[in-house]
Amino acid sequence: MKPILDACCGGRYFWFDSKNPLALFMDNRVALKGHSKWRKNHSVEPDIVADFRRMPFPDKSFKLVIFDPPHLTNCGPQGDMGKRYGRLNKLTWRDDIAAGFKECWRVLDVYGVLIFKWSELSIKLKDVEPFFPTQPLIGHRTGRMARTIWCTFFKNEVLPPPAVHVHDHAEPPIDGDPCWYSRQQKNRPVTEYLEHICDTCSYSWPEECLKKRGERKR
Ligand SMILES: C[S@@+](CC[C@H](N)C(=O)[O-])C[C@H]1O[C@@H](n2cnc3c(N)ncnc32)[C@H](O)[C@@H]1O
Repeated sequence: MKPILDACCGGRYFWFDSKNPLALFMDNRVALKGHSKWRKNHSVEPDIVADFRRMPFPDKSFKLVIFDPPHLTNCGPQGDMGKRYGRLNKLTWRDDIAAGFKECWRVLDVYGVLIFKWSELSIKLKDVEPFFPTQPLIGHRTGRMARTIWCTFFKNEVLPPPAVHVHDHAEPPIDGDPCWYSRQQKNRPVTEYLEHICDTCSYSWPEECLKKRGERKR
C-alpha cells in the first residue's frame, strides 16, 4: 500500500509532482481532457475510482491523507467550476463531509497527518468545523480574499484529543481575558463589549468563548 492518499484528487493541480509514486490518487469520477471548456488540459484520472464516504481501505492504511473535497453548492451541472472541482449536494453536504472526515481519519495511521483544504465560496469554515475529527494543529488562510483555508490534523491516539474549535485569533485567550482579536480590532476597553458576540469565532464571550475553547486556556 502506498503511504499517501489523495482522497479526492481532481486534476491534481496542487501537487508539485502530479505523478508522485508515493501517492494513491482517488476520485469518484473519471473526466478526460476536453471536459472543461476553460481549462483545456484539465482531466481527472485517478488511480482508483471510489467514494470518500466509503473508502475501500483497511483502518490505518496511510501515513498522510489529503482531503480537498468539493466546496461549491451554487454551480449548475454545466458550470465549468463544477466540472473541474465537483459540487456539493445542497441537502446532504453535511452528512457527506462528515462521512468523508470519518473515513479519512479511519484510514489514517496513528501519528499520521491529515491535510484538509476548504474554500469558503459557498460555505463558511465554521459550518464545517463540527465535522472535524479533532482540533487542527496548524492552519492558514490564503487567496486574495483569504477564503481558502488549509488545516493540518495530527492523529494522536495516546493523548486525549483537544476540543474541536478553530478560530482565527492571533493568539490563544488567557483565563479571564476575553477575545484578544476583537479587543485588538476594536481597540476598546474590555468592559465595553463584554456582552458582544465574538466576531471571529461567533461565540459570545468571555465565558462561552473560553468554555468552548476548553483546553486552549492557559
Ligand atoms: C476541489 S476538487 C479537488 C482538486 C484537486 N485537489 C486539485 O489539486 O486539482 C474535489 C474533487 O473531489 C471529487 N469528489 C466529489 N465527490 C467525491 C466523493 N464522494 N468521493 C471522492 N471524490 C469526490 C470531485 O470529482 C473533484 O474532482
